[in-house]
Amino acid sequence: MDMVGNDLLEVHPMNGREAPSSYSQNSLYQKRAVDAVKERIYEAISNEFDIKNKIFDPSTPFRVADLGCFIGPITLFAAENIIGAVESKYNAKQQELPEFQVLFSDHFHNDFNALFKSLPPSGNYFAAGVPGSFHNRLFPKSTINFVHTSNALNWLSKVPEEIKDRNSPAWNKDRIYCSGDNKEVAGAYYAQFKSDINDFLNARAQEIAEGGLLCIIIDGLPNGVKLCETGLGMLQDLLGSCLKDLAKEGVIDQERVESINFPTYIPTIGELEDLIEQNNNFCILSLGALHTLPLLASKETIAAIVGAVAEGVMKEHFGDEIIKKLFDLFLNKLPGIRHSLEDEKYQKNIEICIMLKLKSK
Ligand SMILES: C[S@@+](CC[C@H](N)C(=O)[O-])C[C@H]1O[C@@H](n2cnc3c(N)ncnc32)[C@H](O)[C@@H]1O
Repeated sequence: MDMVGNDLLEVHPMNGREAPSSYSQNSLYQKRAVDAVKERIYEAISNEFDIKNKIFDPSTPFRVADLGCFIGPITLFAAENIIGAVESKYNAKQQELPEFQVLFSDHFHNDFNALFKSLPPSGNYFAAGVPGSFHNRLFPKSTINFVHTSNALNWLSKVPEEIKDRNSPAWNKDRIYCSGDNKEVAGAYYAQFKSDINDFLNARAQEIAEGGLLCIIIDGLPNGVKLCETGLGMLQDLLGSCLKDLAKEGVIDQERVESINFPTYIPTIGELEDLIEQNNNFCILSLGALHTLPLLASKETIAAIVGAVAEGVMKEHFGDEIIKKLFDLFLNKLPGIRHSLEDEKYQKNIEICIMLKLKSK
């Protein structure tokens, strides 16, 4: 068993709390998704947990894990929702409550101290941080009752090799992400996503206790839609065009621009369903788009959200020096696509919520 695996190679730091474009200050969109999923969590816990089962004996703690927790605040809302749902189930059955433990997990570089500082003072759970990649094992066998992960599984363990290879038909020369426009590029990205999702589900299948649940919230696409036909694709194309401008000005090397690729994949609903079924460790209780509203934000907020997610990857590839120039340029060019971003026909990005139950071992 590989406990640490390629964790060192996988890291693409998110922007922490202190930076102006901090993800935590711009996680409005993600918070909406967690709120929208609250009802599904309550429903799944109410319908699926058989608290008469010996694993829900109040003498054993009820363990929740959030994977890709970052430094908050979303992870804290999610923990609160899950524990609230379990408490109301026990209360409805007039059963003695178990003790709760929440395991917050992310890459080892994550600022767990920042997260711990914002834990609720009168918390009704024991908290612990668990460093490591969710593509590997993180917890002992059969010890977790509810696993949650939001807005994290889109990150791949690595950019597929063919994408970076000038001699491969899948060389992604003109774009910085998986646009969906080139079949070979899309195939290579999908193969990597498939392998990562399998690793993720296999690890969780070992760690989740009998009858346990896994809730996945992930950015996605409706079936048949390509990422380049959406607002999210447009924003990545805009960032790519800024890099090309900087290369023309001689600020960065053209070859470096041709070799940058985001280690992210945005799956369709159908792809996710197929992958979970092929993996065969979990039953699908529900799988569908969350009805989140389109984000109507100022250009500064949109630029900050893109910066919070993209800065780590950009720094890793080009170094710190270009970051300010790159994102200033991005902010200046944003009004040029604003009209399209607001056009309903490009608002096809969805948040997908999947509730899974471990099949009997
Ligand atoms: C966009 S943030 C999401 C944070 C939070 N879950 C939310 O919903 O707002 C993605 C987080 O996933 C983490 N992440 C990405 N790949 C990971 C991996 N392989 N293992 C653990 N964490 C990972 C990143 O470090 C980052 O903190």
